[in-house]
Amino acid sequence: MAVADKSAAPSTIVIFGASGDLTSRKLIPALYSLHRKGRLPEGTKIVGVSRTEFSHDAWRGELAVSTAAAAGDGFATDTWATFARRVFYVPGDITKSESFARLESQLGEIEGDAACDRVYYLSTAPRFYEPAILALGEHGMADESRGRRRVVIEKPFGTDRQSARKLNEVTHRSFREEQVFRIDHYLGKETVQNLFVFRFANTIFEPIWNRNYIDHVQITVAEEVDVGHRGDYYDTAGVLRDMFQNHLLQLLTIAAMEPPVRFEADAVRNEKVKVLRAIGPMTAEQVATNTVRGRYRGYLEEKDVAADSRTATFASLRLDVDNWRWKDVPFYLRSGKAMSCRTTQIVVQFREPPHMMFGDGRHSHCDANRLVIQVQPAEGIQLQLQTKVPDSAMQMRLTDLDFRFQGRLAGQLPEAYERLLLDALSGDASLFSRADEVELAWGIIDPILAAWEDSAEPSLAEYERGLWGPQSSTDWMEGQGRCWFDNCPVLAAH
Ligand code: BG6
Repeated sequence: MAVADKSAAPSTIVIFGASGDLTSRKLIPALYSLHRKGRLPEGTKIVGVSRTEFSHDAWRGELAVSTAAAAGDGFATDTWATFARRVFYVPGDITKSESFARLESQLGEIEGDAACDRVYYLSTAPRFYEPAILALGEHGMADESRGRRRVVIEKPFGTDRQSARKLNEVTHRSFREEQVFRIDHYLGKETVQNLFVFRFANTIFEPIWNRNYIDHVQITVAEEVDVGHRGDYYDTAGVLRDMFQNHLLQLLTIAAMEPPVRFEADAVRNEKVKVLRAIGPMTAEQVATNTVRGRYRGYLEEKDVAADSRTATFASLRLDVDNWRWKDVPFYLRSGKAMSCRTTQIVVQFREPPHMMFGDGRHSHCDANRLVIQVQPAEGIQLQLQTKVPDSAMQMRLTDLDFRFQGRLAGQLPEAYERLLLDALSGDASLFSRADEVELAWGIIDPILAAWEDSAEPSLAEYERGLWGPQSSTDWMEGQGRCWFDNCPVLAAH
């Protein structure tokens, strides 16, 4: 775990989009939690910026309410009071140049004479990323002569490869790549980080982590929620942009990558990029056979969704990583809204034993060893293996070896944003996406989006809420001689 460098200059986190949902639901509660645990480096200040006119105290008052709701038992009034002293507010419109001049001078007052590092956190609507980044550059606010300057950019990073490339290009006009932190909050999840440790700090998995032992890998991010009040955004994004380009491809790269030399930003990201390069863009014919799309019943009636919308709320993809380790081992990715339950799991399906000496020699392919890495909600690992049924002749059954991270930890697992904010403060970009990484990820998603738009195949299949997506997804998998691991969290939360 990266520990913030105590010898570094104090930092100011400037949050653009301070009155937004993300700030009150995630960022401030994460910063408060870090403060409560004594992990927020000394001297760290938090400055909110948005158009709403608040005084420092009025904003602190608003945040006290939302943080108490988010933190539950973790909220204490006296701790909040010490945290609130770190919090400031500067009203400003990020489309206006004069706002930045005013912000710079107010930051000067808040920071005093000492050199300060700064993290600019863009938690605004995506259309404001470019103007904000350009304005920061134009006002000398990316200049590092008085401390480090970093910019954190929320998802979505572009809406396709071209727009991501343009955003990268604009970003690099003001900031060097080392100053840029592109967020994918999945990388801040404990189990995702644990996947690095599981794979690269144990000797016993690496020898079997390849085509010789693995039949295929399934990555499922199922959500029980529907699009809710986000119809406006979601209808233009759809499940591929919302979940696959970022979260699912991140999970895939970590599951498939080669061991980096060190756990350092560039070493890690070089390996992830190699995986993305090994996934060729699909042709329209491949999209017809290697993808499934679906939409939950009732989606068209959601608020702010176009009546003639063709947006998919569910998708399954088969991606092939064409390299020595993974040749002919498909990676199946699926995600959707309004599914049976909330679960994120990576299922590594091992091959069947080459010869079955028990019984009649037949053995269902679904009963081979399976490793389930449960990312959420109850973080852990389950290894499924065959054992003998006690007191039977030689009957077998699948048994589980369970490991829950929570069981070994006193207290709550931290929220993803805690880790990511600390890393941004200390300048560790290992868990952030690099410019080439996001562009390559779009390069995988774009051809699928284009083919879906141009062709009727695969058809947009409707599914009832509370299922594992449309029947066509199940049939498609079975057509490949495999079956989805349709299980709500295999590990129960305690
Ligand atoms: C976001 C998506 O990036 O991730 C949402 O925009 C989705 O649509 C969310 O619900 C899922 O995140 P988590 O952490 O709840 O799995």
